[in-house]
Amino acid sequence: MLTTQQPIFRKFWHAVMPLADLASGPKPFTLLGEKIVLFLDIDGRPAALRDRCCHRTARLSKGWCVDAEGRACGSGNIQCGYHGWTYDRSGAVVVIPQYEPGRRIPPDYRTAAFHCQARYGYAWVALEEPVAPIPDIPEFDAPGYRTIFQFYEGWNTSPMRILENSFDNSHFSFVHRATFGVAASPKPSRYEIVEGETGFYAETVIEAANPERFRRISGVQEAITTRHMRNAYFLPFMRRLDIEYPSGIRHIIINCFTPIDDGRIQLCQWLFRNDTEADCPAAMLIDFDAEITREDKEILESTDPDAVVDTRRRGVEYSMDSDRPGMLIRKKLMELLARHGESEVHGGTTRTAPAAPVQVVPSCAPPAGAGKPAGVAPELAPSA
Ligand code: FES
Ligand SMILES: [Fe+2]
Repeated sequence: MLTTQQPIFRKFWHAVMPLADLASGPKPFTLLGEKIVLFLDIDGRPAALRDRCCHRTARLSKGWCVDAEGRACGSGNIQCGYHGWTYDRSGAVVVIPQYEPGRRIPPDYRTAAFHCQARYGYAWVALEEPVAPIPDIPEFDAPGYRTIFQFYEGWNTSPMRILENSFDNSHFSFVHRATFGVAASPKPSRYEIVEGETGFYAETVIEAANPERFRRISGVQEAITTRHMRNAYFLPFMRRLDIEYPSGIRHIIINCFTPIDDGRIQLCQWLFRNDTEADCPAAMLIDFDAEITREDKEILESTDPDAVVDTRRRGVEYSMDSDRPGMLIRKKLMELLARHGESEVHGGTTRTAPAAPVQVVPSCAPPAGAGKPAGVAPELAPSA
């Protein structure tokens, strides 16, 4: 799937930038291939405009915020750094410094504005009228929980790749063999999955290595522990992983895999813990998850970001039983596309092997794979 080529994703809220990053002035971001500029408006609320001045196309992110008197400030209207045209959050040009006072500015002097709101410490943007609200994160600011802004970084992969990895229990013994993966137990535990309208909920208990250096993270003293994983997927690119250790510690990760373009995402990760800084310092929790996350990044950046989502496409990728959550993500995405009159758009040029030359060999046997859905064992095929 080429993420930027599916218009429906423009109609969802995406976490794009920590609000703290906007305190020092306007910042550029690319969302679904669209170059935008983010800034804090006159009320301190985040705003998003097309990053292109309607005068001579300079990037507005080269500019700065100005107050009502035109003085540079932390939040206000955004002033182009080229000739100083100034825009409000609706995208209208409200000041042209070269005009004499009182001269009317034509109403078509404007740049596109996008939906933008603050939530959970981030600026969220929808490029078109959103079809769904931002999912709730009840632990944010909840008594008994602390919030740690864990990661905000670009990865060379696609949302589909990192989403399926997030629900994939069969890579731990390999990708994470140096951290929590139990090399002797490559057979993954099975998820119990409950499907919903806008995603699914998957629950399982896994074994995890628990060396000395992880014991403040887990609150468990034994060399092997268990993780009760409650993993949830939200259309289109968000997931929530609630890990419960036998100690009662909850380690809840929220991810937004925000699409930059067809080969890059911005990983936004929050962590919520029901313990205290004295129990386990935030820096240790960030380092712990950073080490594991690096392992995933290394392998995911080696995969083709143009993942097969429509499983009727044959012979591109092959699957196994434990890929079931990934197949369900595909099913939910395909249902979403269908509801909005879209089909999967893909590069179509990355097959694993060239097409076999035509051979005229008399045979009564059906061709390999005949009657099966594309590259998927029949029991994995999403039901209609
Ligand atoms: S290009 Fe922006 S004011 Fe001229
Ligand atoms: Fe992983």
